[in-house]
Amino acid sequence: MKILITGGAGFIGSNIVDECIKKGWNVIVVDNLSTGKKENINYKAKFYNVDITDFETLKKVFEKENPDIINHHAAQIDVRKSVANPQYDASINIIGSLNLLELSVKCKVKKFIFASSGGTIYGECKGKRLPKESNKPLPESPYGCAKASVEFYMWYYHKVYGLNVISLRYANVYGPRQDPFGEAGVISIFINRMLNNEDVYIFGDGKQMRDFVFVKDVVDANIKSMLSNKNFGIYNVGSGKTISIISLFKKLKNLLNYNKSPIYQPPRKGEILKSCLSIDLIKKELNWSPKVSLDEGLKKTIEYFKNKMR
Ligand SMILES: NC(=O)c1ccc[n+]([C@@H]2O[C@H](COP(=O)([O-])OP(=O)(O)OC[C@H]3O[C@@H](n4cnc5c(N)ncnc54)[C@H](O)[C@@H]3O)[C@@H](O)[C@H]2O)c1
Repeated sequence: MKILITGGAGFIGSNIVDECIKKGWNVIVVDNLSTGKKENINYKAKFYNVDITDFETLKKVFEKENPDIINHHAAQIDVRKSVANPQYDASINIIGSLNLLELSVKCKVKKFIFASSGGTIYGECKGKRLPKESNKPLPESPYGCAKASVEFYMWYYHKVYGLNVISLRYANVYGPRQDPFGEAGVISIFINRMLNNEDVYIFGDGKQMRDFVFVKDVVDANIKSMLSNKNFGIYNVGSGKTISIISLFKKLKNLLNYNKSPIYQPPRKGEILKSCLSIDLIKKELNWSPKVSLDEGLKKTIEYFKNKMR
């Protein structure tokens, strides 16, 4: 099986690359290294330093490699950047994705898997009912609008050209290789700052609720999607549980013997207060459920950052 993974030098993509290689599959990585790192790329994967917005070069890669599966993780991932410059966000997250969908049809790709975002597609999580895949998308950022748009295009390519597509709507993913200096990834940011005995900032009152899912479980959801015989699917991928940012801070503080208090900053404009996903559908249809508890995942992530510092 030949799999082309876009964003395979990044946090989630590179973890998927490693697992596919473990399975003995042939892996091609397409990444422009804008946030990804060359050192993340498994040496057994073939790497193309290509921008997904460059259709002609991308076309040459598709024609040369003839992949069976496209696993699309390359993206502009900064929600605030998308608010500041929606056109730039759309040029990568919509047009770049469309380039891949067009080429997938032209090159008769067997399956297209997309990294979508459950944390931004549904907007604020209100009431007791967790957002399900059948809920109407109500994104509150250009980043979320782009993810929802790509899913509509996926539906179009499926309906009109018969392309097999699966979209995975992730909650907050965390784990080894997440960038601790980015704008997203509160767990890696907190761990890195605590290990360096630096101040930790909390925006707002810390009561925001988040659903954290460990990267190994996300990799597993991707593998199950690649192996499934579903022709079309949209699935939430989360832990099914929430924790507040302040409780997360306290957990990490204990695990790392950090002795400072958090520094509170004004809330970030547009930040969602509660984000959590129903995972009933993926449990039922792909037989996937999260295996790594938050405590276990945090310990593994801490180990990774400690080793990196050594
Ligand atoms: N991390 C999360 O919690 C989370 C949640 C929901 C969805 N996602 C989605 O998962 C995917 C991977 O996210 P991540 O957290 O691993 O981020 P990441 O920044 O580590 O990975 C993104 C990768 O895409 C590459 N890239 C960016 N623009 C590109 C372009 N124009 N052409 C080619 N490559 C390009 C980057 O160099 C990087 O390697 C993204 O699509 C993101 O939107 C992530």
